Amino acid sequence: MKPEWVYAIDESKLPDEGMVAVYPKGLQVLLIKSLGHIYALSDKCAHMACSLASGVLEDHTLKCPCHDWKYDIRTGEFLDATEIKLQLYDFKVSDGKIFVKVQEEK
Ligand code: FES
Repeated sequence: MKPEWVYAIDESKLPDEGMVAVYPKGLQVLLIKSLGHIYALSDKCAHMACSLASGVLEDHTLKCPCHDWKYDIRTGEFLDATEIKLQLYDFKVSDGKIFVKVQEEK
């Protein structure tokens, strides 16, 4: 199936240096605004799938609230073993609204 742009949230609801979990078409996506940039990653930690939305964000590093795994939000990489990655999602901002690209399962 073709990928689809799905509305997630108004950009004004995403605070500076903050994170919001969104669920376009049921996907668990974490939107992050840090140092003036927006990132869209999987909200499921690669360790035991905790939501990262209540983790600790510091510049480009996000720490999972469950067992402190740390990720680079620019690449999704787990800092201690970079072959482990959170999925990154394409997104776009249009008219103050953030859309996430959702690839439907076949
Ligand atoms: S679930 Fe994230 S570090 Fe364990």
